[in-house]
Amino acid sequence: MIARGGAVRYGCAMQRPVGIDLISFHTPAYYLALDTLAGVRGADPAKYHVGIGQDRMSIPPPDQDIVTLAANAAAPLLAKSGTENIGHVLFATESCIDLSKAAALFCHGLLGLPPRCRCVELKEACYAGTAALKLACEVVRNHPDERVLVLASDVARYDLGSPGEPTQGAGAVAMLVSADPRVFAIEPECGFHAEDIMDFWRPTYRTEALVEGKYSTRMYLSTLRSAWEGYKAASGRGLADHARFCFHLPFTKIAFKAFDRLCRFEGIEAPAMEEQEALLSPATWYNRQTGNTYAACLYESLCSLLDTAEEDLSDKRVGMFSYGSGCMAEYYAGRVVPGYRAHLFAAEHKKMLEERTELTYRQYEDIYTYGIPQDGDSHLMAPYRSGPFRLAGLENHKRRYERAE
Ligand code: HMG
Repeated sequence: MIARGGAVRYGCAMQRPVGIDLISFHTPAYYLALDTLAGVRGADPAKYHVGIGQDRMSIPPPDQDIVTLAANAAAPLLAKSGTENIGHVLFATESCIDLSKAAALFCHGLLGLPPRCRCVELKEACYAGTAALKLACEVVRNHPDERVLVLASDVARYDLGSPGEPTQGAGAVAMLVSADPRVFAIEPECGFHAEDIMDFWRPTYRTEALVEGKYSTRMYLSTLRSAWEGYKAASGRGLADHARFCFHLPFTKIAFKAFDRLCRFEGIEAPAMEEQEALLSPATWYNRQTGNTYAACLYESLCSLLDTAEEDLSDKRVGMFSYGSGCMAEYYAGRVVPGYRAHLFAAEHKKMLEERTELTYRQYEDIYTYGIPQDGDSHLMAPYRSGPFRLAGLENHKRRYERAE
């Protein structure tokens, strides 16, 4: 419960609010328009734009991976706030580049973070971003003078020509979690649901995910119900207590399906489509342009909402639904902190999306089929527009990163 002054009450104790102090997102500078893909695959473009609600998908060039995406997302945030008191880096991903070393450690080095720092990688499909954020909040509740850097970074890949292909994407979100956050205070009540299913998975010998697409969508929507019921029981809140909603967005049409379900669970008639568009679209705009960013998706949606909603969202409660295949689901909420607009990177995010380079289908396929050399020899990576951090090359099976001037 949020008490007067923004403090959160746990049992009898009063604690300082905890949440996202700064949030920044990064996506590759290259994209494939889904009109182009529709032309090659013989699909009706409306199936992509209207049916799944996607316009473009971000394509990472060969010198970009989850590490450079995450470091690029974090750089502006650390330039603004410094690196002092960052005692943890929690890196959420399902597109790992090493089965042993945590991607958090590569970022720790690139970003010049203090040595007194716990760096780990977390995995549970797209849910890992939320797991990292919730763990970060717990750390800060116990140590209010510490800050935690949460990085969620992924490259979504499916087989060429498969139904999942138009939902591919890539991107990273960096969040600095602290006490007395300046952007988004996270409320402690939540509901979650775990179930051992095979709706989407990626064996360690594959670079592309496998998916039972329709089943995965059904499971997303059915776990929403138990997560929502758990949240309701814990918080006593209903739909009307939320001003906005952010959902995990493998494709943006699912936000409308999920919102419709929430209305049905509550026995409320869903508002007219125009009203739903006004309510939900600001939180889907960035994701429409990037495609699925897996662990980063929900937080990219939050960035999109905060950056693009015309209405001042100060003090408004935003419902958050996180889903990770396999599967793990959680519903929780947060409050937008008054004055949040002064601490966003909205102009930078919009500029980054506007200045991307469109790929032809051939260029997309060339990048898709490019394989990272696996022979242990020295390889220099050709430079693309990947900066400021990029993969410079490989040597003796080690990745070497650099910061471009
Ligand atoms: P599909 O077979 O390509 O599409 O699969 P479809 O035939 O079902 O059509 C999709 C929608 O477009 C339908 O609307 C059609 O009616 C409509 P719906 O009935 O669903 O409302 N449509 C059109 N609309 C307008 N004009 C047209 C037209 N034609 C058709 N001409 C699917 C779609 C999403 C299943 C596929 O893209 C896929 O497998 N994607 C990957 C899996 C996925 O995204 N699952 C989502 C839930 S699981 C999740 O979110 C976790 C995940 O992020 C991974 C993780 O956790 O790590 C994936």
